[in-house]
Amino acid sequence: MTILVTGGAGYIGSHTSILLIEAGYDIIVFDNFSNASHESIKRVEKIVGQSITLIEGDIRNRTDLENVFSSYSIDAVIHFAGLKAVGESVEKPLSYYDNNIYGTMVLCEIMSKHNCKSIVFSSSATVYGDPHTTPIKEDFPLSATNPYGRSKLFIEEMLRDLHISDSSWKIVLLRYFNPVGAHSSGTIGEDPNGIPNNLMPFIAQTAVGKRSYLSIFGDDYDTHDGTGVRDYIHVMDLADGHVKALNIIKNLSKVMTINLGTGTGYSVLDMVKAFEKASGKKVPYQIAPRRAGDVAKCFADPSYAKKILGWEAKKGIVQMCEDSWRWQANNPDGYKGKSI
Ligand code: NAD
Ligand code: WQD
Repeated sequence: MTILVTGGAGYIGSHTSILLIEAGYDIIVFDNFSNASHESIKRVEKIVGQSITLIEGDIRNRTDLENVFSSYSIDAVIHFAGLKAVGESVEKPLSYYDNNIYGTMVLCEIMSKHNCKSIVFSSSATVYGDPHTTPIKEDFPLSATNPYGRSKLFIEEMLRDLHISDSSWKIVLLRYFNPVGAHSSGTIGEDPNGIPNNLMPFIAQTAVGKRSYLSIFGDDYDTHDGTGVRDYIHVMDLADGHVKALNIIKNLSKVMTINLGTGTGYSVLDMVKAFEKASGKKVPYQIAPRRAGDVAKCFADPSYAKKILGWEAKKGIVQMCEDSWRWQANNPDGYKGKSI
């Protein structure tokens, strides 16, 4: 079976590509490298011991996609490509609607034309907005507080409409909670551009000495220690969720919406302590005001993923921190450091 992996050179796509190859799939990575480096794919090739078909192109460009679909017989698409920075989406909403929504529209149009109608889509826990309670189930009310989140909500709706119009589409919407960690080799990982927005890469860069301290956004939330609680999930567990989604996609008769989380919430301070233990380094921090748009607690009820996919997260907080540290310590400048 041949799988097109859009955004396959990025953080989650590169890790998923490894498991897809190990599971026996042929893959084609399609990426415009707006937030990725060729080095990630070189390193994935080294991990799996084979070369990867890589196409540089943009999901908004019909010709780029036409070339791929007319050159290869593609059975399904795992669609990671898109922009993902919440703050940037507030400043540049049109870029987010263009890349994420319009890009997905073009992708689906070309898929349909080539009779490839199976897609696994990267949605996000952000579509739950400020949840009224936790753990979060898939049927909770949906809302968005920023253009990034709205782009995910709109795409989910668009894919549901597509299925209503043509029930031969097979669609899995995977709502990721907070992906962290790295492949155990320490050769691939998350490589944010500039100052990280997300907690884990910020902690890792502080531990390695690139940042002087972590600002903890708020210590007066209604949580066990006052800092925000999230459901951190190891990126290799997340990757495995995609392989499991492909296992069931052929037989779907309705759009499946599935949370990928561990079901356990950790606070910012829990993460700092766990990272200090895993790395043997101090992570200095200061308490700062709350960050606009943050919620106190967000963690999944992952029981539907277990029931439908036979999937559950296996890696805990220790492994998340150890693997993240191995990647950061070996690659303090990410993929911009030396080539392997
Ligand atoms: P990433 O930025 O590392 O990967 C996205 C990839 O898509 C990059 O390689 C980028 O170059 C590529 N890309 C962007 N726009 C493109 C376009 N128009 N055409 C072709 N390629 C394009 O991000 P990631 O963390 O790996 O996230 C993957 C997906 O998962 C995204 O859709 C993101 O919104 C979603 N997601 C991520 C998180 C997270 O915290 N990392 C959480 C929930 C959902
Ligand atoms: C986690 C916790 C912060 C940075 C974001 C997106 C979401 C999804 C995952 C894509 C919060 C605190 C953070 C820092 C801190 N992405 N924090 N200091 O906000 O849960 O989710 O990434 O879909 O859409 O919104 O993740 O890692 O930014 O924050 O104290 O420097 O860490 O306040 O409690 P978040 P995060």
